[in-house]
This record gives sequence, structure tokens and C-alpha cells, in this order.
Amino acid sequence: MAETAKMDAIALLKKDHRTVEDLFAEFEKASGDGRKEKIARQICLELSVHAMIEEEIFYPACEGKIEDEDLLKEAYVEHDGAKVLITEILGGEPSDEFYDAKVKVLQEEIEHHVEEEEKRMEGLFSQARKAGLDMDVLGEQLAARKAELTQEFETGGIPKPELKTMERAGL
Ligand SMILES: [Fe+2]
Ligand SMILES: [Fe+2]
Repeated sequence: MAETAKMDAIALLKKDHRTVEDLFAEFEKASGDGRKEKIARQICLELSVHAMIEEEIFYPACEGKIEDEDLLKEAYVEHDGAKVLITEILGGEPSDEFYDAKVKVLQEEIEHHVEEEEKRMEGLFSQARKAGLDMDVLGEQLAARKAELTQEFETGGIPKPELKTMERAGL
């Protein structure tokens, strides 16, 4: 769906976080394999697009600008951890023994990651704002790329994610 109102980068990324949180809550309440699979796929799609636009646009803009570069490195590693679970969930089905557990652990990982991004003062977004990044320009770039990737993944399927920090996992 195209974004109608223009959002700055942080508003856009936070909105994505809320969307995924809602989907995880829906998954918890869902019964029936078909419904569960549909919600889980949507979670994986949203997260794949979100991770890609952060890694292509937002995180590189933070590099060399924010105070705590370790936080940025951790963010890349957290994304990669999520990608492993996303790949597992997309390749599996709700009847699998560990399917629900994988979705649950993905939810917990994402909750932690979102907290690291949104935390007041020392969070990644706060640091990016403090560093004076142009959030309006970044917001436009993120929105454009998000629309492009969402359409691509909805029509052509969600591609296997690329790991940025892990060389030995064999994904
Ligand atoms: Fe994020
Ligand atoms: Fe992130």
C-alpha cells in the first residue's frame, strides 16, 4: 500500500514496528494452520522489507555520525539473527513441531531490537536525531524503497535474506 502522508524517517520506521507488533499479537490469538501461516508470512514480509530499508538506507546514514557505533553493529547482528528465524518460518509450516516457538522467539528478538532502536536518549533513533541526520529526506527514500520492495515481495515472493555479519551460518 502506498504511503499517502509523508513521514519522516523515524516516524516511518516506528510505524513499521507497531505494524509488526500488532501482527505478532494477532498470531498469538490465531487458531487454525491456514490463518497462522498467513499471519506469519505477513510478519516475515514486513520484517524483510523493514530490515532491508534500514540496512540499505537508514543504518548507512548513521555510520560515522552517531555517538555509539557499537549499537549499530549490534543492530546488524540482531537483524541477522531475525533473518535466520524468518528463513526457518518461511520454509516451514504451522504443523511443524517448532513453528510456534520460532515465531515466539522471533517476536522476543524483535521486541528487544525495537527497544534498542527506540530507547529514549541512547537508542539508535535518538542518536541519529542528535547527529542531525535529515529525517525528511531519509523518510522519502525509505518510503520509496519500501513501496518498491513490498510490491516486489508480494508478487514475486519473499527472497531468502542476505546475512551481513555472519559468515559461518551457511544461509
Ligand atoms: Fe527497525
Ligand atoms: Fe532494525
